[in-house]
Amino acid sequence: MNDDYLEIRGLTVDFDGFKAIDGVDLTLLEGQLHFLIGPNGAGKTTLVDAVTGLVPATGLARYRHQDLLRTKSHRIVRAGIGRTFQTATVFEGLSVLQNLDIAGGVHRTAWKMALARRGTPSYVEEALETVGLSGLRDKPAGVLAHGQKQWLEIGMLLVQDARVMLLDEPVAGMSAEEREETGELLGRIGRERTIVVIEHDMDFVRSYADVVTVMHAGKVLAEGSVAEIQANARVQEVYLGRQHKTSGAEMSSGAESSQEAGHA
Ligand SMILES: Nc1ncnc2c1ncn2[C@@H]1O[C@H](COP(=O)(O)OP(=O)(O)O)[C@@H](O)[C@H]1O
Ligand SMILES: [Mg+2]
Repeated sequence: MNDDYLEIRGLTVDFDGFKAIDGVDLTLLEGQLHFLIGPNGAGKTTLVDAVTGLVPATGLARYRHQDLLRTKSHRIVRAGIGRTFQTATVFEGLSVLQNLDIAGGVHRTAWKMALARRGTPSYVEEALETVGLSGLRDKPAGVLAHGQKQWLEIGMLLVQDARVMLLDEPVAGMSAEEREETGELLGRIGRERTIVVIEHDMDFVRSYADVVTVMHAGKVLAEGSVAEIQANARVQEVYLGRQHKTSGAEMSSGAESSQEAGHA
């Protein structure tokens, strides 16, 4: 095994005495699609925020010998760690191509950017191709369908050369077809990267997860294959059973509902 894995030990995030993350250990290996599930408020988003430098945390989060908890967020991006947010954060007024170009600026000096202006840089072409948006390159990002915006965000991580991608509910509000395309996309780009997907929908998790970590109340409740997680009595009690009974309604956050409304 090489050094390209994200190691998290004893990660704790304390909001004025409330531990949103409470001593989490996680090892995220390259080449695996790692899913992070758990009820609303479990701490999934906060974990991603902590690892990407958006909230202060204690413990250890290390990638390629870099101590992420003591690194500024823009340097964490340069270290190869990218994330998406529960609501899409593309520049709606700019074209698909311009969004990718800006994201690519993370690694490039001014003169290389100027050179790249002469044509579409090859890494941008590749990203367009990979996420399936080549045909929409000159469209403003604002007119993209909900699913396409999420793919553009993933494309932006590709041009940033993110080796670790932390994706916060990327398929929430997507159609069945978009979910399937996203699952396949993640499978393709995940072979040589470390990908963590936060997701509620167990059908999606079942179809694509190599490893699943279940969080509850800021702690890791269980970790394993989909089969192991589903057979786990504690998981059934606090998560799967409840999800089943409420037919998903209780599992939907406000953000998800508004995304769904936007999509319709
Ligand atoms: N900035 C913050 N200040 C105080 N509490 C917060 C903050 N951000 C999140 N929380 C709380 O931390 C807990 C975990 O939230 P979050 O990580 O968003 O959960 P999840 O993504 O699993 O739904 C929740 O109880 C939430 O209300
Ligand atoms: Mg969340």
